[in-house]
Amino acid sequence: MNLYDLRIEYDKAPFGLSVKNPRFSWKLKSGRTDTMQKNYRIVVTESDSGNTVWDSKLIESDASIHVEYAGDALLDETAYSVHVEACDNHDEKSEIEGGFVTGIFDPASFQARMITHDLSEDNKSCPVFYSSFATRKKVKRAVAYVTSYGVYEMSVNGKTAGDLRMAPGWTSYKNRLQYQIYDITELIDKRNFVEITVGNGWYKGILGFTLKPNNYGDRVAAFAEIHVFYEDGSCDKIFTDENWGVREGQILSSEIYMGESVDTTKADFAEGKVSVTEFDPKTLVAQENEPVRVTKRLKPVKIFTDPEGNKLVDFGQNLTGVVELNIKGKKGQKVTVKHAETLDKNGVFYPETLRKAVSIDSFVLNGERQVLSPKFTFHGFRYAKIEGIEDLTEDMFTALVIHSDMEEIGDFECSNKKVNQLYSNVTWSFRDNFLDVPTDCPQRDERLGWMGDAQVFCWTASEIRNTARFYSKWMKDIGAESSLEKGVPHVVPDILGSYSSSAWSDAAVIIPWAVYQTYGDTRILSDSWQCMHEWVDHIRNHCGDNGLWQTGFQYGDWLALDKEEMADRTGATDKYLIANAYYLYVTDIVRKTAKVLGHSDAEKSYSKLYEKTLEAFRSEYYTSTGRIVSETQTGAVISLFFGLAREKDRKRILDALVENIAAHKNHLVTGFVGTPYLCHVLSENGAHNLATVLFMREDYPSWLYAVNKGATTIWERWNSITPEGDFDVSGMNSLNHYAYGSIADWMFRKISGIEQLEPGYKRFRVKPMLVKGIYSFDRSFETMYGTIESHVSCKDRRIKVKVVVPVNTTAELTLPEQTETKVLGSGTYEFDYATDTDLTVERYSMESTLGEILQNQLAKDMFEQFAPGMLDNPMIGYAMGMTLTEMLVQAPEAKPMYEAVIAALNVQEKANNQGAAFDGDIRK
Ligand code: BGC
Repeated sequence: MNLYDLRIEYDKAPFGLSVKNPRFSWKLKSGRTDTMQKNYRIVVTESDSGNTVWDSKLIESDASIHVEYAGDALLDETAYSVHVEACDNHDEKSEIEGGFVTGIFDPASFQARMITHDLSEDNKSCPVFYSSFATRKKVKRAVAYVTSYGVYEMSVNGKTAGDLRMAPGWTSYKNRLQYQIYDITELIDKRNFVEITVGNGWYKGILGFTLKPNNYGDRVAAFAEIHVFYEDGSCDKIFTDENWGVREGQILSSEIYMGESVDTTKADFAEGKVSVTEFDPKTLVAQENEPVRVTKRLKPVKIFTDPEGNKLVDFGQNLTGVVELNIKGKKGQKVTVKHAETLDKNGVFYPETLRKAVSIDSFVLNGERQVLSPKFTFHGFRYAKIEGIEDLTEDMFTALVIHSDMEEIGDFECSNKKVNQLYSNVTWSFRDNFLDVPTDCPQRDERLGWMGDAQVFCWTASEIRNTARFYSKWMKDIGAESSLEKGVPHVVPDILGSYSSSAWSDAAVIIPWAVYQTYGDTRILSDSWQCMHEWVDHIRNHCGDNGLWQTGFQYGDWLALDKEEMADRTGATDKYLIANAYYLYVTDIVRKTAKVLGHSDAEKSYSKLYEKTLEAFRSEYYTSTGRIVSETQTGAVISLFFGLAREKDRKRILDALVENIAAHKNHLVTGFVGTPYLCHVLSENGAHNLATVLFMREDYPSWLYAVNKGATTIWERWNSITPEGDFDVSGMNSLNHYAYGSIADWMFRKISGIEQLEPGYKRFRVKPMLVKGIYSFDRSFETMYGTIESHVSCKDRRIKVKVVVPVNTTAELTLPEQTETKVLGSGTYEFDYATDTDLTVERYSMESTLGEILQNQLAKDMFEQFAPGMLDNPMIGYAMGMTLTEMLVQAPEAKPMYEAVIAALNVQEKANNQGAAFDGDIRK
């Protein structure tokens, strides 16, 4: 047995750690099956002195994730070594070493001040704060703690510190301001010159669809403290104060929505005066989430001129980032880069989806070879329109993909290319919209932390990349901006001032729960507890005498297709049915959270509240015979998924859902609320085949429809681009919104069948489900315990399954087409068995129209045999364009007959294709 992958607060070797009780996690690898950890011991020592600050002693336990430090108080700016040893149930032992360096635990100990400038308001240039200092002795290490009001970049002796973008990120600045920690030892010399350039960013820049500037303040500012540690143990501190200088820089203007303008010939800089600005150091927090970085560089796939004469670069992928130019031009030559997600149906550059966020970067060149990209902005684009360069060549352009650099932990690949493209689109919309906060979209004049979008996608996101640190940071901002009185905002950080809509504000409860379930992280629950239960309390305080929440604004089933008045985007499902369904969902989570945290009184009172609300909900929204008041797809889906319907009514509600889908020619019409759970509900309730029909559809509205239209990200709307190739023109049409990408959660949990039974996947289920049109699929998922794998293929009449169960976990495996559930300890398991199932997509199905089917003599004969006279009915002409599914809505009793006809036609088709004669026996 070997220990591997020791993590400290999810990180491999944190630098600047400022968590007082860091948690340790490690993994075990073993050649033997059924391996569990029996005991462990952790020893933490101060690296320099070798003093032990914590010895956990031998603990008999299988705990191997999030084991909390419980030693002496950790000191500031100190290196610690971590030693973990463990023994498994086969008495095999192993050990692993790691370490971390602490930062500053109490921000009040910083001596730096927040400094600002007095450059004129009309001067849009990004100020550069500067200072110089000399070192006195041999330097051992130099560390910089830096943040700003605005977004900054720091350089020492002309070299950029770190590789971060858009630092310090976006938080609820009045309550919390993250600072970054840089090891700048390599940049330091005897004489040193420090510069901090600050752009408007989220602090002062234009934000929201009203294009409001100065959301947090009207002057950018900088805060930095450099600690130079000498070999002899002494330390110098250099920090921002009124003795620093400030001047204009080469960045003439910079806005997240509008883009950046840079003059690299500019050498004449107006000087300003530095002053210390009011600032509460208690708001300072060390960066908790992964920094924003350039994570990928894409070269053009095509350079061309569109029908309107625009010179365009196509990067082949809708992405979030900036274009980097590598160019040698003439001194004073101006190059402009404009951005768009797509071309229109005539192949012309189409920037309309950006709305008022014009996203234009420009550079005045200095005549030398230059590598240029904007520093303090980002755009959502696939195409760049270039002005100011005569001949465009590939080597001039690179798209820099920018987002929070979260670790990839999940993968999915299958035999179907279109499904793989869909999955790729999900992963791209995910990375494009996780830029320090989870945003709705990266391109238009929003890019806000919309809670509803985040909530519906959080499970999916957490199964693709490790989101624990990202969401833990965001939850603190949610907590800071929520209260019992006001409730929870619609966007966080809150710049809109609008509060409390179900499914949006509920993110405050659902996200910590998803993180806990996925990574076994209880700290996010305890940190978020107040916010979680106060949201439920807030709703309870707004309920009527009937115990239900039926007042105020609701987004409803946002963008659902089942409301005819298209101007209203809330869908047809009763908005308060949704509100109360979510009220129950989050109350249930809050009572479970109370249990996890050991708040037994709260557990009891929220359980009581849940039961009472459920009763009120049932009498308000279901008839005594099991009809839903709002009999929409989403109404049925949430009734079943959230477990709200009475047991006896579940079947009727499922039937209503199936009928509703059939009445839409087997299409979904759900919006943000119903879509994430639709296929889950079908697969879980005996209608998996229908889930697969919806999933594999290629016409509008469906997931693969967008793939066929060339999408490389998930669209905001089912019809962002219409079948005719036109765009939705309602003024809200992004091609990069991740909400409908939540289908990947169904791919992981139902197709691959991997679902957690205990938090962190300590115990999990593997129950793969087959899909017509997908012969094989491979899923791997790096949990906190190790990699779970599920590989399934079904072809040539054999099903083959390979499952990998990590050490220290247990799986419950149910193989496709088998009923028995095997309980498996760690190991690799392979199965190979016979089946009659053929996953080939057949030519005829319940989706075929009557007309198509009747072109076949065999079908005519069979109808005549099973339903004599049916085809002579004069009304039959009207049904020729209907699918068999649609016809079933009128006459459900015909199902066995249709199925028999289809089966026979497919047998005949196959025989014809194989050149063999069909013997006409339809019962075979
Ligand atoms: C956003 C959405 C968001 C919504 C609120 C839109 O403008 O882009 O995704 O959730 O507003 O309904």
